[in-house]
Order: sequence, then C-alpha cells, then structure tokens
Amino acid sequence: MRTYHLTTFGCQMNEHDSERMKGMLDSLGIREVGAREEADLILFNTCSIRESADNRFLGNLGEAKRLKSEDPGRVVGVGGCWSQSMKERVFEQFPFVDVAFGPGQIPKLAEFLTSESLTAQGYFEFEGFSGHLPMKREREFHGWVQVSVGCNCVCAYCIVPSTRGREVSRAPGDVLAEVERLAADGVREVTLLGQNVNSYGRDLPKEQKASFAELLAAVDRVEGIERIRYTSPHPKDMREDVIRAHAELPALCEHIHLPLQSGSSRVLKAMKRTYNRERYLDRVAMIREHVPDCALSTDIIVGFPGETDEDFEATLEVVEQVRYDSAFTFIFSPRRGTSAAEYAEQVPYPVKRERMERLVDAVQRIAAERSQRFVGRTMDVLVEGPSRTDPARLRGRIRHNKTANFSGTAQPGEFARVEIDAATSTTLAGEERALSPLA
Ligand code: SAH
Ligand code: SF4
Ligand code: F3S
Repeated sequence: MRTYHLTTFGCQMNEHDSERMKGMLDSLGIREVGAREEADLILFNTCSIRESADNRFLGNLGEAKRLKSEDPGRVVGVGGCWSQSMKERVFEQFPFVDVAFGPGQIPKLAEFLTSESLTAQGYFEFEGFSGHLPMKREREFHGWVQVSVGCNCVCAYCIVPSTRGREVSRAPGDVLAEVERLAADGVREVTLLGQNVNSYGRDLPKEQKASFAELLAAVDRVEGIERIRYTSPHPKDMREDVIRAHAELPALCEHIHLPLQSGSSRVLKAMKRTYNRERYLDRVAMIREHVPDCALSTDIIVGFPGETDEDFEATLEVVEQVRYDSAFTFIFSPRRGTSAAEYAEQVPYPVKRERMERLVDAVQRIAAERSQRFVGRTMDVLVEGPSRTDPARLRGRIRHNKTANFSGTAQPGEFARVEIDAATSTTLAGEERALSPLA
C-alpha cells in the first residue's frame, strides 16, 4: 500500500484525530493523495451527530464501494463516531469495508495495516489518548490539543457519550509537554479540546489534580503560545475562575463558545442540560462583567420533542438578550440509542423548518450588528494565508475569532495590526497598519 485518501466529517475532535491518522500513515511511508481514485487506502473519519451527517458520509462511502469493485486490492477503512455507533454492523451492512474503528482506536489502524493478513477487523474499545502519535497539522501555526476525551453528560438528544465513552482527563504534564512541543515547532495558537472542558481534571488522581482554570494558566505561561482557545465549555460547569482567566491571562482570547441549546427552562430540563435559563444568563452576565468586549458564540437546537411555540419564543428572547457574535443552529435530529429519539411528541418537520428560519434571521441580524463594533478599531490578526475570495489580499483571525481579510504584506504565522473598515455578520475587512509587536 503506497497511497491514502482521508475524508473527515464532523467536529474539531475529528479534525484533530485526522491529523493524528495522517501523521501515523506518513510514518508508515504511506503518502497522502488528493483524489480518492488515486488511493490504495480509502479512509473516512465519520460523524453521526445528526442524520444529515450520516447521509453525507454514506454518499461518499458509495463511491468507495465502486472504486473497490474496480480494484479489489484497495482497502477501505472507516473510523470515527458513526463507526463506533455501528460497531460490527458496519461489516454486515457494508461488506466491502475492510477495517472499522472508533475514535479511541486510531493506533489500531496502524496495527491492522502492518499485520500479515488483511481480513476485516473492527476495533471499538475506548482507550485513552492518541497524544503519543505523530501529527500532521492542517494549519502550520495552529495546534489542537486534547485535554479530555469522552463525556459524562446525558443530554437527551446526543449520541456523543455513546461514541466517545466516559470522560477521561489527560494528565496536565502531558498536555503541557504537548503544548511545549507545538510551540517549539512554530505553533502560535492552540485550541484545547474536550466535550466539556470545564469539568477537566475532576477524575485525575490527587497528585495530578488541576482545574481547567489552572491548566489554562499553565498553558498561558508557555513561551511562544500567543493565543489560547478552547471548546466546548458546558454552562453548568462554567465557573468564575475560568471567566476571570479571560481577563487575566494575556494569551487567552476574548471569545467564549457557550452552548445554549434552548432558551426555555422547560426544554432544557427535558434535554437534561442541568441548567436553566436564569443560570445561563447569569454566566453571560459574569462574562460581560469581567470581559466586556468578549465575543460569545453558541449552539442552538430547534424542534426538540415537545418544544412549543412559547418555548421557541423563549429561545428567541435569549438570543436577543445575549446578542451572540455567531451561532450554530440545528434542527433536532433523532439519533439511534438516545432517549429523545423515543419521545412521543416529535415536532413536525415544517414547524421545525419555520422556527429554524426565524432563528437564523435573528442570529444573522444580531451578528452583523455586533460586528460593527470592530469598524474603526485596529485589531491583531494572526495571518493564515491568502484571502479565499481575493488572493491579492490576506486572511487571518482576530482574537474574537472573526475572520479578517485585508491588504498588507505580513507573512503567514505573523501578527498584523489591521485597521477594520467594514464588517459583515461573519467577516471583517481592513488594511494592515503595521506589524504587531507580537510579530
Ligand atoms: N460537547 C459539545 C457539543 C458536541 S455536539 C457541547 O456540549 O458543547 C455539537 C452540537 O450539535 C451540540 O451543541 C448541539 O447543539 C448539536 N446537536 C447534538 N445532537 C444533536 C441532535 N440530535 N440534533 C440536532 N443537533 C444536535
Ligand atoms: Fe453531547 Fe451534552 Fe456531552 Fe455535549 S455535553 S457531548 S451535547 S452529551
Ligand atoms: Fe464530533 Fe460528530 Fe463525533 S460532532 S464527537 S465527530 S458525532
């Protein structure tokens, strides 16, 4: 086997896992190619968060089946959350798949590829971290760093606890060692990853105990790391120490992703989110008090079973009150094995659709208004490369996580001072004034 092609679906965890997979395949001497039909090894890193994610993947898997029938020597591998939720059924339903593995089993892919016989294999245990594997980063100056795997929450709609297992925190020394390695390799921004980052550390043995706020402070001290982000915190565990850290730690960015899911306390209860609307708004007030300019983003689900018009209005109210800088909005999708999928009062699709449209209108209007506060200000932009729409310009991100397109001469990986002259709901535009002192 000489070449591979990997398609990644899903969230940042999967993006990060794919970087590990690629690093591992490179170290086996298997080379990445840009087109599936050129690959001896066709791989997928899958997601099952909503039905649409399954469907997108299954469409792609159809192509792999065709390519394999043209050349039976090809190997087809399926990793990630969909795979974990299907387990051995993968091979029953898709007999052309050679290897299937869950998110915790990336190293097993190498074991499979280097074994003598290539009879179909499935690997579905939960086994800690892939932090020891080599990594091929997608963005040179940005590194994902896993601080925990799994999730101990029981959100009624969510498939993740069954695909990623129980929560396990990574030892703080291991997290720091990885951040130091990344910094030495030129990384300037890290994003700490976990399903519920602020429950980090609770399961660690006494001699390694550290809270998430302490971990942030330690990462902040690593020389060369100029920006720290994390995702996702859970509102139930968002404490003042972490919020204060945003004001106190120089590298910790002015952006918090605080998933709301619903603005109705009744629906939040049915979702088993374990906070209510007041508690959520309290957290927001605390953020605004300590970090007035903080960007806030969120996730919202519409059409959860039993959601009434009043419940939905309550969500709109919270959106108007908090004024998010951006929001990911989802139509509830029943997932196999979750309790909400069995609830009797499913909301009819046209109602979900209509609520979604109203929500998106509100979210976009507010995001566009919020963006205007950057116009006229000069912001630090970490340069990523040429602008996607105009290659003569540059693209990067401000600390508040908005993309900025600008004219200037800074190089990727440098910080440019950019004067913002226009803003839409999603992007800023401006001109470079000077290199930032950080550059
Ligand atoms: N652990 C993260 C979320 C991971 S899933 C957290 O708690 O923040 C990302 C988002 O997908 C969730 O926040 C939720 O808004 C959405 N989501 C999860 N399951 C869903 C479902 N069954 N239908 C619709 N949206 C869903
Ligand atoms: Fe899913 Fe809830 Fe865990 Fe997030 S906190 S991964 S939404 S169960
Ligand atoms: Fe992520 Fe999808 Fe799994 S959102 S955790 S890849 S189900």
